[in-house]
Amino acid sequence: MAELSLPFETRYFPVKKFLDMYQKSLEEPEEFWAEEARQLDWFRTWDKVLEWKPPFARWFVGGMLNASHICVDRHAKSWRRSKVAIYWEGEPGDSRVLSYSTLYREVNRCASVLRKCGIGKGDKVALYLPMIPELPIFMLACARIGAIHTVVFSGFGALALADRVNDIEAKLLVTADGGFRRGKIVPLKSIADEALTKCPSVEKVIVVKRAGVSVTMKSPKESWLDDLLEEAALFVEPEPVESNHPLYVLYTSGTTGKPKGVIHSTGGYLVHNCSAYRWVFNLQEESVYWCTADIGWVTGHSSIVYAPLAHGAATVIYEGAPDYPTIERWWDIIEKYGVTIFYTSPTAIRKFMGYGDEMLKKHDLSSLELLGSVGEPINPEAWLWFYRYVGGGSCPIVDTWGQTETGSALISPCPGIECVPLKPGSVTLPLPGVDADVVGEDGKPVPMEQRGFLVIKRPWPGMLLGIHGGPERYKKAYWSRFPGVYYTGDYAVRDEDGYFWILGRADEVLKVAGHRIGTAELEDVAISHPQIAEAAVVGKLHPVKGESIVIFARLEEGVTPSPDLKKDLAGHIRKALGPVAVPDEVYFVAKLPKTRSGTVMRRVLKAVANNTSLGDLTALEDESSVEEIIKAYQELKKGEVKKK
Ligand code: WT7
Repeated sequence: MAELSLPFETRYFPVKKFLDMYQKSLEEPEEFWAEEARQLDWFRTWDKVLEWKPPFARWFVGGMLNASHICVDRHAKSWRRSKVAIYWEGEPGDSRVLSYSTLYREVNRCASVLRKCGIGKGDKVALYLPMIPELPIFMLACARIGAIHTVVFSGFGALALADRVNDIEAKLLVTADGGFRRGKIVPLKSIADEALTKCPSVEKVIVVKRAGVSVTMKSPKESWLDDLLEEAALFVEPEPVESNHPLYVLYTSGTTGKPKGVIHSTGGYLVHNCSAYRWVFNLQEESVYWCTADIGWVTGHSSIVYAPLAHGAATVIYEGAPDYPTIERWWDIIEKYGVTIFYTSPTAIRKFMGYGDEMLKKHDLSSLELLGSVGEPINPEAWLWFYRYVGGGSCPIVDTWGQTETGSALISPCPGIECVPLKPGSVTLPLPGVDADVVGEDGKPVPMEQRGFLVIKRPWPGMLLGIHGGPERYKKAYWSRFPGVYYTGDYAVRDEDGYFWILGRADEVLKVAGHRIGTAELEDVAISHPQIAEAAVVGKLHPVKGESIVIFARLEEGVTPSPDLKKDLAGHIRKALGPVAVPDEVYFVAKLPKTRSGTVMRRVLKAVANNTSLGDLTALEDESSVEEIIKAYQELKKGEVKKK
């Protein structure tokens, strides 16, 4: 992994300066983070920077603040009042531009609506909305009154929505009549109707008019937002909350069938988030920042809503599919709004690479200053394409590593302050204040160039407070593998310069087009299909999406395998979890390979699906089942080739 020579000069301070500063941040972490925290507006300063009762960290204890005040009021009360806060682009071509004063008014009005619906401090509100301005507005409206939001990705199906609403016991749900995706309307309200038949905690439903489709208002507890806004107040006092009051809960997939509700604090999260975006992106009030993630994921929370707005920047929000109606769409948006920082996923880059660079030549992308990649490992080829063609050979790329649990990026280059020389495919070095390492099975650091587990050795402010309703689950998931150290679930390697290279998940979590999907969650849904007796899900390397979903399923007695049944299973999964979870391949097998103790050997299935060598099979209960799977796989493959 020798350093690749890059076609640009470093134009920042020498590396040593960064390393000295990094060293100091680890020697005096509390001083470092307190300095970062002073950049925010606090109603009351904290008494204690960190209270660390492993594995629970509480940051800026006793400090009082409000996220809506930080992201909106302090700009609306300054010269930034008439400055753009949100550039919103709808998929059909409509657009809205919100200044900070407009955002302020809308957040206040929606906070008033929430109050009138009986929502107060600590209440949970679920947001199942497309990428429209009302989504950040309601997030901030919740924060304004101390309510805790949980955004449910609008690509999820009814079961995924119901599971999350029930786990958090949301009192109120905000949804829309529908949202646009690739020219079609996703009927969000009807999906929500189906979910809500199983959600007893929901007392009130607010519906935003977006797609103009007719919906059925089922009961008096359901109202159109427009009607509620007629009665809304124009000002609601922001509720000061203690730093460790939860700002939001966001569900993410882990190794069990049940997604984890990751709880983020207000103070620690905002401090870390603002700090990371200052170091990594040099985010400024004059930045026009476009992150293409969905707000339903942590990247969207941090990069579309909280960081750009806290910094008084303009955030670009695009509702629809990247290449709809044509492959020009994204580049049109960059040109139209003069985007300066563009943050996207390796999957999107690889997809556009496939279209060639002609589309880029037709656009003036000269406003771009910095590019970013997140969510999955980026291959050097995609990195270089992004660098050369999108960035025109003059924009550094920040490859940022983070997780839903980390709140923001923890490992990333910092070109804003200095250029740690970039290497395509490497997330380079941890951010100041972050103590990361790569360890072996025994928890000891592995030598350079050797694969190990990525761990974080001390708490950081954006660290999750815990998992909703599960302190034990929290301890087990992150703190039990290597006691006292945060286990990320990722494989990584450090090269001879100490640079980190993320190699992918070390657990049963898939990254499909950057979406985090738990195999156990998918298996549970697959076996809820009446004709499926048993199922195992594995990831298959995919040239664009990084990974694709492959399901091996054993059918119930007497059921005949058929292509229609495969389609039916895919439809069943789509309905429950949404299109992101639909398998690319389904194989019906007579038996799944298992260890002597009865655990499915995913390694074997993975090797079969990926056409790689099977490795050591001595732990197999019944080796013939492997042969059987290989046979079934090959036969099915042959069948598919013939069909084409
Ligand atoms: C998993 C977390 C800022 C949050 C992003 C998504 C993978 C994330 C990178 C990267 C290689 C990456 C890891 C991680 N991942 N960023 N730059 N290079 N892999 O949060 O959806 O919770 O997923 O995404 O495997 O554990 P998430």
